[in-house]
Amino acid sequence: MGKINVITGRGGTGKSTFTTLFTRYVHAKPLLLIDLDPDESLAKMLGVDLGRESKCSISDALSRIIEKGKKSKGKDDSPDLLRRMMEEGEIIYRDKKFDLITLGTKFAPGCYCLPDEMIKETIRNIHKNYEMILVDSPAGLEHLNRKVTPDINDLFVVLDPSEKSAKHIDRIKYVTKGVNIHYNQFYLVGNYRFTEENEAYLLKSGEKYLGRIANDPLVREYNLKGKSLFHISEDSPSSISVKKILREAGYVLV
Ligand SMILES: Nc1ncnc2c1ncn2[C@@H]1O[C@H](COP(=O)(O)OP(=O)(O)OP(=O)(O)O)[C@@H](O)[C@H]1O
Ligand SMILES: [Mg+2]
Repeated sequence: MGKINVITGRGGTGKSTFTTLFTRYVHAKPLLLIDLDPDESLAKMLGVDLGRESKCSISDALSRIIEKGKKSKGKDDSPDLLRRMMEEGEIIYRDKKFDLITLGTKFAPGCYCLPDEMIKETIRNIHKNYEMILVDSPAGLEHLNRKVTPDINDLFVVLDPSEKSAKHIDRIKYVTKGVNIHYNQFYLVGNYRFTEENEAYLLKSGEKYLGRIANDPLVREYNLKGKSLFHISEDSPSSISVKKILREAGYVLV
């Protein structure tokens, strides 16, 4: 059974950047990435153009299935069609270091129910094929309410230095307990806006604090230009700090 790790936190704290560098430096084979964010920004950071690779998101797949269903007047069986799309590689992008699945944009206004169900079923079906699954979350806590991943090994919370972040830690605990999500480890990660002085409260939070991600102008530049973070130097401040954080959590690195 693969280890399921979720990266969560408030908007713009650096979750996708952390997920990308995590992917790059962790030793896990095979490794599956799941992007739950409708922005689908993870692919870009990984240097993947899903459109060019003719891959579709779970939400797109669902739209196509429904269209086909309408045309065939219900003769096409949806779960079977999804399974076929999965097997035929229309949904999973495969790279040397990782496989990638994206949830995509909202299927119907205000509702993620069907794509969520499909992601859940996908995880149940394929998680035994992977040594590790990394889930990059959208901003906020709604994704926890949706219970896409009820059993988590390591939950990483990327925080920015604000009072809201301190409250966010309590909110995550409250929500996970409320909706019955189980995790083995609860890890705090300070984002690139932390300084030595203001990271003190994370050290005193009573939770396991892994360290902070260094502020790295190259990360900003690469993200702005849409360049893959896989090409950033291994000795860059962001790479060094993420490797340190992963070692602190007991991961074996490449
Ligand atoms: N280590 C870093 N050093 C400098 N800038 C960074 C660093 N990490 C992230 N950033 C910048 O912060 C912004 C947000 O990063 P990112 O997209 O990874 O955050 P996010 O939490 O995934 O955002 P969202 O909530 O929108 O999904 C980007 O402009 C990115 O370039
Ligand atoms: Mg993101």
